[in-house]
Amino acid sequence: MRSVAVTNAKGGVGKSTTAINLAAALVEFDRRVLLVDADPSGNAALGYFPRGAPPVGLADAMLEGSGLADVAVATEYPGLDVVPPGDRLGNCSDQMGGVQGLGQGREFRIRRLLKGLTGYDVVIFDTSPVLTPLNVAILYAVSEILIPIDPCVAALAGVRALEDLVRTVSEFRLEFTDAGPLAISGVLITRVDRTLVSKQIEAEVRNYFGPIVHDLVVPASVKFREAYARGVPLIHYDRLGAAASAYRAAASAFLEGRRSAQPAPVAAGDDDEGPGDLGEPDSRYREAS
Ligand SMILES: Nc1ncnc2c1ncn2[C@@H]1O[C@H](COP(=O)(O)OP(=O)(O)OP(=O)(O)O)[C@@H](O)[C@H]1O
Ligand SMILES: [Mg+2]
Repeated sequence: MRSVAVTNAKGGVGKSTTAINLAAALVEFDRRVLLVDADPSGNAALGYFPRGAPPVGLADAMLEGSGLADVAVATEYPGLDVVPPGDRLGNCSDQMGGVQGLGQGREFRIRRLLKGLTGYDVVIFDTSPVLTPLNVAILYAVSEILIPIDPCVAALAGVRALEDLVRTVSEFRLEFTDAGPLAISGVLITRVDRTLVSKQIEAEVRNYFGPIVHDLVVPASVKFREAYARGVPLIHYDRLGAAASAYRAAASAFLEGRRSAQPAPVAAGDDDEGPGDLGEPDSRYREAS
């Protein structure tokens, strides 16, 4: 079973939309998928249950010690189940303490839930845009992360913080668990439009991350909002559109494991390099051999 967190420290970049559509695309490839909505706002779950997600979910599994399968809800798509955040997820994340103050096994809560789970080929976590203790616990649990990036000004600003976290979590995972390092299985550029700034930032993102960036980008389209309001994944709402193709290609690359990398170790004297000055082309990320 593979597990992937769709994550970015920045808000509104298409994390939930990507989680919804990656899940739907993987089901088209005959995989059994569990989409876990780990953001208290519940946007990923609402993408499948537009009239409101069930009140019981991830929070209850964490607080009551039940399994993820106990709180999974079937969607109308065979092979795709959703774990809603649960009404208590906000409190639950707060009670996990500060990101630095994790301890007493809290960082392994999600890992324990995943270990007890069977019956799925892929588990996808949608995460909130902040580096909360819950998100750290997710990074301890999953095997890989997918980073959606919206090519607007400062798109790379949040990436440094996320990379540092991935690096730290990876080191701790290797030292304290049998989980292995945390891989970045891809970077997906979303909400691309025809503006010059969008083109420039797409080039900057490709230059920075190198081969782990998916070739196809997800264009900006009003159809996303229409699909979301109807509780239908975009890949079904606009089956033949460019955005659907991009999400299917991302799902296919994910299944083939074509793209995967870890952040390069921080080089000496590299600390104060801002996101506007991103160093050598393609130097940070290498595809797994
Ligand atoms: N390619 C796209 N084109 C146009 N609109 C999009 C696209 N992708 C996502 N959206 C819309 O942009 C908004 C934000 O997307 P989404 O909720 O997926 O971002 P997010 O990163 O999960 O946000 P948050 O950080 O708040 O959780 C939503 O209204 C969504 O429908
Ligand atoms: Mg979201």
